[in-house]
Amino acid sequence: MDSNMKELMQRLTDAGQSHLLQFCNELSAGERAELTQDLQDMDFQEITQFFRNATETSSSSRHEKMDARMEPVPREVLGSVTRDRDHLKDWEALGLQCIAQNKVAALLLAGGQGTRLGVSYPKGMYDVGLPSHKTLFQIQAERILKLQQLAEQRHNIKCCIPWYIMTSGRTMEMTKDFFSRHNYFGLEKTDVIFFQQGMLPAMDYKGKIILESKGKLSMAPDGNGGLYRALGNQGILNDMQQRGIQFIHVYCVDNILVKVADPAFVGFCVQKGADCGAKVVEKTNPTEAVGVVCKVDGLYQVVEYSEITLATAEKRGADGRLMFNAGNVANHFFSFPFLRDVVQKHEPQLQHHVAQKKIPYVDAQGQLIKPDKPNGIKMEKFVFDIFQFAKTFVVYEVLREDEFSPLKNADTQEGKDTPTTARHALMSLHHRWVLNAGGHFIDENGRRVPAIPSAGAAGSVTDDGNGNLKDGTDLPIKCEISPLVSYGGEGLEDLVRGREFHPALMLDENGVHELVKNGV
Ligand code: UD1
Repeated sequence: MDSNMKELMQRLTDAGQSHLLQFCNELSAGERAELTQDLQDMDFQEITQFFRNATETSSSSRHEKMDARMEPVPREVLGSVTRDRDHLKDWEALGLQCIAQNKVAALLLAGGQGTRLGVSYPKGMYDVGLPSHKTLFQIQAERILKLQQLAEQRHNIKCCIPWYIMTSGRTMEMTKDFFSRHNYFGLEKTDVIFFQQGMLPAMDYKGKIILESKGKLSMAPDGNGGLYRALGNQGILNDMQQRGIQFIHVYCVDNILVKVADPAFVGFCVQKGADCGAKVVEKTNPTEAVGVVCKVDGLYQVVEYSEITLATAEKRGADGRLMFNAGNVANHFFSFPFLRDVVQKHEPQLQHHVAQKKIPYVDAQGQLIKPDKPNGIKMEKFVFDIFQFAKTFVVYEVLREDEFSPLKNADTQEGKDTPTTARHALMSLHHRWVLNAGGHFIDENGRRVPAIPSAGAAGSVTDDGNGNLKDGTDLPIKCEISPLVSYGGEGLEDLVRGREFHPALMLDENGVHELVKNGV
């Protein structure tokens, strides 16, 4: 045995992880080299410390106690697209001005594994079945392109919104390859910046790292809060500084309605002098899988849906609404100095959260076991755990039907947050944009379709599963507007006012198309 190997054996023994080399002699030379490399790169002391801290803080009694320490978001930090309608134009103008000055960046968290959706490729590559078959990545890229254009037109100056995309060991190559094959969807290649978050091993309840095969550790991304470490060690903070970025919009990949670099949200946060902000929608169902923005011991925090007790989730105020109703849509605003401080000073203080999982493992006899109940944990940092360090924190409430329809699960009947619900949410929003701009829809008998279809009413439509529409139920009108035509419903009047359309309607950079009429 060479000295490197001896040293590694010793380190593993000291860390209580010597089982990881148990099957070493059964591996091919290549497999063994890979395993030893993975082990050599690992800081066992750090991992053991993470395990201890994470398991200590996650005990359920602590959660119960936390419930008593939670308070709702106070009114004075809250802005709302409905209650503060008069300010919206000003916020948006300020946001566009910041964009025109090249001060705004978008940062996409795309390192997750899409386990619930059940795909083996990055979620951003998913096509929910829109008429255009655009993927989530393409929709987001085109919103950035359009927003750059809007800021340029308003300020008569060329500008750019750099797009930072965080991937993980599992998604990096496929993501980069996808963007390259699609020519960055029209964005400048140099303004789409990929970087990679870290990974951590899955462990059993005693802190032993799990082998997923005889020569491979069970590894998973270290949570979307892995962002902060990665920003530092992948040179992203420096890149932002060099470009003069002042404000960063951080968001999750799976929300088909996401307003990337939303100028109104950015403008609101800037106008309030905030270093950190969160976009929320009203949570109306206590068991909905969204975190809630609130205060814990006087500090802002998101209490995640997996960590709140039902009793607290169900609490209601005098007005009958849920007491903790600031539903986190995973859209965050950070000022650059705040982000820099987080990366350089606060990141090490962030605790990992613990998720108990069913983790396939190789047992001591070398058998691969697929457990049917949780047998170990994954440790993850969460992106919002830095709210506690904010000096001026604000919350911006938007309408769910305009801005939030996440893709989490595969399609099933009555499913929630599925490709079907995402597709319908986008088409329903675009339908409303057409109506608001003065356009109308007509059914095959030439009758105007009422703006609010009633279940089963003639003129309302359903998708027959092949992307075609049929009369009879209250599914949305099939209507898709390319982000290259409109970012948030603006600029449609000249195209649709006073006109009648047969669904399916598609508005893109080449004009107005009635797909069914034209037999598409
Ligand atoms: C997330 C929020 C939750 C919010 C909900 C809204 C977190 C921790 N939770 O929950 O409060 O109400 O969205 O839809 O933000 N990701 C990484 N690296 C990882 C893990 C995840 O980049 O290691 C990314 C994913 O690609 C995705 C995002 O983080 O874009 C959210 O991940 P997901 O696991 O879907 O979060 P939820 O549990 O749905």
